[in-house]
Amino acid sequence: MTEHLLDLSAEEVLTTTRSVRKRLDFDRPVSRELLTDCVRVALQAPSGSNRWLTQFVIVTDADRRKALADVYRKGYEIYRKTPGYIGVVDKGDDARNANQQRTAASADYLAENMHRAPALVVACGPGRTESGPPIAKTTLMGSVLPPLWSFMLAARNRGLGTAWTTVMLFCEQEAADVLGVPNDEVTMAALTPVAFTKGTDFKPAMRPDPAEAIHWDQW
Ligand SMILES: Cc1cc2nc3c(=O)[nH]c(=O)nc-3n(C[C@H](O)[C@H](O)[C@H](O)COP(=O)(O)O)c2cc1C
Repeated sequence: MTEHLLDLSAEEVLTTTRSVRKRLDFDRPVSRELLTDCVRVALQAPSGSNRWLTQFVIVTDADRRKALADVYRKGYEIYRKTPGYIGVVDKGDDARNANQQRTAASADYLAENMHRAPALVVACGPGRTESGPPIAKTTLMGSVLPPLWSFMLAARNRGLGTAWTTVMLFCEQEAADVLGVPNDEVTMAALTPVAFTKGTDFKPAMRPDPAEAIHWDQW
């Protein structure tokens, strides 16, 4: 489906795939074909023991989107009361805090409007790792999250917007019930809305200097 590609460079895709919330076009349909094409790209990601663990639940049915969005909103209300809520995290300087407040307003907007996205995508992996060794967790998540990020990068290069979200998992069982996911056998990792974006110009975001994130030779 190369006719849908924006043909951004790899560098552009990697630096401009933002969490899109207010610029999601809720009125423009997204075809199953296009969503499937993003999954095709996603499945090129690495996978522990080459086991291809990731499963995508893609919700386009309006009633089920509404039900899932209701669970998301409930999880978001729980999240808003935690010290981790994006709107109360102090980033230490005025510019970063102003950026944080803008993101909080955008996240609040998504919580109110999640049901309007033409597709809601939940990335899942088979298995539960609560009682397993740490490597079981990192292998499962390490095999599910790269494909989801690749899905989002592929979406960006097709004019689609996404936003990585997890607060639905405060109400994990309710979300599983909506989706028919066997919650004792499958781990849901994240939910993203998918919609065409209003405009396709997105910019690199404010991020730390690389020196703040590098430990040469030892921690
Ligand atoms: C693990 C994880 C969980 C997140 N959960 C949510 C969420 O539940 N709701 C939301 O609106 N954004 C969520 N985000 C998106 C972040 O707020 C966003 O990535 C961050 O503000 C940086 O913005 P950018 O992605 O546009 O660069 C999450 C991101 C990650 C990586």
